[in-house]
Parts: sequence; C-alpha cells; structure tokens
Amino acid sequence: MGSTSLADGCVPTTFSPTIFGAEVLSVSASLVTNYSLDIPDGFRFTAPARKIRDAQFCNVTVTYTHPGYGDKINVESWLPIDNWNGRLQAEGGGGWAAGRFELSYAGLAGAMFDGYASTTTDGGLWGSPDADSWALKSPGNVDWYTLENFASRCLNDQAIIGKSVVESFYGRPPSYSYWNGCSQGGRQGLMLAQRFPKAYDGIVAGAPAIYWSNNMLNSYWPEHIMRTINEYPNVCELDAITAAVISKCDGLDGLTDGIVENVDECTKKFNPYDLVGTTVDCGNTTVKITKAAAQVAKAAWEGIVSPTGEHLVYPNFNLADITHEELLSLLHASKQEYGSIIDTADPDLSEFKKAGGKLLSFHGLTDNIIPPKGTEQYYREVSKKVDNVEDFYRYFEIPGLAHCLGGPGQPESLFAQLQAWVEDGVAPDSSPVSFSNSKGETQNRILCPYPRKAKYNSSCGNAAKEECWSCVAQKSTESKIQHPEL
Ligand SMILES: *[C@@H]1O[C@H](CO)[C@@H](O)[C@H](O)[C@H]1NC(C)=O
Ligand SMILES: *[C@@H]1O[C@H](CO)[C@@H](O)[C@H](O)[C@H]1NC(C)=O
Ligand SMILES: *[C@@H]1O[C@H](CO)[C@@H](O)[C@H](O)[C@H]1NC(C)=O
Ligand SMILES: *[C@@H]1O[C@H](CO)[C@@H](O)[C@H](O)[C@H]1NC(C)=O
Repeated sequence: MGSTSLADGCVPTTFSPTIFGAEVLSVSASLVTNYSLDIPDGFRFTAPARKIRDAQFCNVTVTYTHPGYGDKINVESWLPIDNWNGRLQAEGGGGWAAGRFELSYAGLAGAMFDGYASTTTDGGLWGSPDADSWALKSPGNVDWYTLENFASRCLNDQAIIGKSVVESFYGRPPSYSYWNGCSQGGRQGLMLAQRFPKAYDGIVAGAPAIYWSNNMLNSYWPEHIMRTINEYPNVCELDAITAAVISKCDGLDGLTDGIVENVDECTKKFNPYDLVGTTVDCGNTTVKITKAAAQVAKAAWEGIVSPTGEHLVYPNFNLADITHEELLSLLHASKQEYGSIIDTADPDLSEFKKAGGKLLSFHGLTDNIIPPKGTEQYYREVSKKVDNVEDFYRYFEIPGLAHCLGGPGQPESLFAQLQAWVEDGVAPDSSPVSFSNSKGETQNRILCPYPRKAKYNSSCGNAAKEECWSCVAQKSTESKIQHPEL
C-alpha cells in the first residue's frame, strides 16, 4: 500500500464507524501536510520531547450523538501517512477537558510522529476548559447526560471510533491499542480499565484524579486550616519548612541531590512543629516560624483528614468560608451524589487483568494539585483485591515530579516500557530518568515501582550513572495520619 493511495483515502467517505447507541452526524477528513510542532519535555508525560517538521497525516473528525440525549461529540484522529507502526494511541484530557486541549494535541502530534494513529475526544464539551458552561442545565439542575459522557461513556466511544477509523484507512485494525493520559486523563485511564476492560491493551494512568467527586475540596484544605485557626502564615515560612524537609530527607536514598525519594520515611523523620520559633529570612525582613505555618504545611502534605485521622480524599478546589463540619458533610454528599458516576476508585481490575491488559500509573511526589497518596492508596487496594498485582499493574512514585510534568523526574521511558510489557512481556522493573542537577550536570537515576524505592550504591562511585542505582524493597507504610490540631 503506497503513500499515494493512503493519502487518496483521506476523504470522508472512507470512514463509517458504527457505535452501538450512537448515530454519526458527520465525518470530516482532510490531508494535513507540512505539519510542524516543537513538543517540549513533559508535554507527553511518558514519552520524550519531539521536533516535528513537515509531517503528513490524515485528520479525521467523527461527530456523533446518542439519539434522544441531544449531545454532540467529536472524536478527532490523526493518521500518519508515511510511517504507521500498526498501533493506536489514544490521548486523555486534563482538568475539565475530556480531550482536544493543548496537551492532548501535543500527545496526538508526538504519537503521529512516532508512527501511531492517535485519537482524542471532546466528550461533547466542545473544548470548554471548565465545567461552568455545561455542568448545569439551569441553576440547581445538573446536565446528567453530559456529565455521564464526560465521566465514562465518551471514553469507550472514542476507543470504538479510533479502531474503526484505523481499520477503514489502513485496511486492518490496530495490532495494539494504548491509552496515554494524566490527571483527568489518568482518571479516564482508570475508568477504562475498570468499566471498559477490553478497550485498550495498555494504559498509562498518570497522577489520576481518582476521587473526582471529592477532588474539588483538597487544595482548599490548607486554606480551610488557616481560616479555622484564623492565622495566615508568611509564604517564606512555608518555603523554609519545605527547604528543611528536603535537606533533612534528601540523603535517605544514598545521595544528596535535592531529590527526596521516600516521602513516607521523610514525614516520619520530619516534624514541622520542631521548626516553630526558628528565625527565617524573608527578603527584606526576618520572621520566626509560627505554629500556624507548621499546621498549614502538614495539612498541605497530608490532604483532608477526618477528626479520627482517616484520610477522606486527596482533592483540589476553592470555597468560601465553611466550617470543618460543613466541609466534611459536603464531601460526604458529593461522594454519594457523584461517586458512582465519576469516581474511579473501584479496585476490582480482575476483568482487565483477564483480558491481558497492562496498566502503569505514575505520580509526582511533589504534585501539589492531586496528592500522590490517593494513587498509592488505590494501588494498595487493587493489590488486596486482585492476586499478583505486579503481573498487570505497576505504580511508579516519582520524586521531584510536579503535577504530570515539570521537575527533575519526567518518566519519559514509561510509555515505551508499557508497550514492551504488552507486546513482549517485558515488565518494567525500573525506569531510567535523566535530568540536569542544580549544578547543571546531567544526572541519571532510576524510578522504581511501588513499594520499592531507588537506592544509590555509594561504592559504585558515580552518582550520574544509572547502573549505580537499584530498586530496593521497603516495608510498606500504611500509617494513619494524625489529625491536625484545630
Ligand atoms: C511541504 O512538504 C514537502 C514534502 O516534504 C516539501 O517538499 C515542501 O517544501 C514543503 N513545503 C513547505 C511550504 O514547507
Ligand atoms: C483537524 O480537523 C479538525 C476538524 O475539522 C479541525 O478543527 C482541526 O483544526 C484540524 N487540525 C489540523 C492540524 O489541521
Ligand atoms: C518587603 O518586600 C515585599 C515584597 O518585595 C513588599 O511587598 C513589602 O512592602 C516590603 N516590606 C517592607 C517593610 O519594605
Ligand atoms: C555496589 O557497587 C560496587 C562497585 O561497583 C559493587 O561491587 C557492589 O556489588 C555494589 N553493591 C550493590 C549492593 O549493588
């Protein structure tokens, strides 16, 4: 099949996907040539940066509705002309976008460059960056059809349409299909594994917003603490506490490199209240670290806890003044009303495992939007529910990585490792990572699947070498979090 005939097939009549319960409204297809894009580090979460020049692909958009629901959803697919590798890679969304936003397009472009056919869906939200424009039909009345599309339904549709479009264009279905997503895209990946276990052979679910029904409230928690105690510590007090944590715990993995590998071990060794009274430099003034600053720092690390110290959620949002009791009751109501629609906390992945699926999660340990503790908790729950969890699901905690991207730990080999796991049975026992340290030198180390941690072998002699690191077992720490003093 020459490139000419492939390009000739890039017309709407080539494509006629059938989706049970849906009706195709229109198909657009046009050849894109001379496509160029620089994809920065991290934008693809688990795959490397790319410089794309003069690429060619067939751009297909299928617009469909679920008759009776009044919805209209777009699934956009990019089909490489010159270098298709026989595979499909679907890209997830972010925030309140189901897909078709900047990072989805970086994913599509990178996948296309690497030879994958790729897809993204807008879930019927038409690229809205937040929920304001669609969540309510009228004040007080949730648009349930749209919420359901966003939460789960559009994801399976996207898989069906993506596979169909590939088959129509190349004359055969993809040999393997993958999902790559982070944050909302990570939640979507878990939803697919839980509810549509045969949709994809391999799934990356990064920094997943697992407890979405409660996700609204987490970043409000430190503020809630401040309001409750009616004290607002200086930002430099909090910065000083963070710096102290890093210096106290940095060396625990065998190397002082500005990266805290084992956050659990660290919080056991580090009590922010010990710093109360310490003088810190705040630029044009000096202040003493207050008890309030210690409380707020602890609250930010730990997420929302109930008065008995149980973890409730690991979320993010902003609210006006409410009391502690009102906050807890809001969490409860939110979970009851929306949990079954949008949460992805079901640990029963046995069908996904049985279907031969492989799942990789990662979560930055300095993620300040979705706390990594939630992903750890979910992973532990799956391992209790399904035997031999490591046979199909591995979770990488990533020291130094912020929310999905940014920081010295971007797991840029993970997608390729997922593919090797699915296709060749080579499970990722560690993942290499490379970054510039504070002196500007290239540093190589490894990321480890939970609960193992990276450890530097000091007699190996060169911290910049990946082979001087190994993943070592750690006692699993399922410690109860203390309730902050209110
Ligand atoms: C478009 O791509 C073709 C084929 O790669 C190339 O020959 C041509 O110079 C490009 N045109 C522009 C305007 O970049
Ligand atoms: C692909 O097609 C969609 C729908 O027609 C369009 O909105 C989008 O701009 C196209 N993308 C490119 C890169 O041409
Ligand atoms: C100290 O610096 C901050 C920020 O640079 C400024 O807002 C503040 O007014 C300064 N305070 C004094 C006392 O100069
Ligand atoms: C540490 O490195 C030394 C020197 O390369 C090697 O002999 C030793 O076996 C390594 N120890 C571990 C635990 O890997």
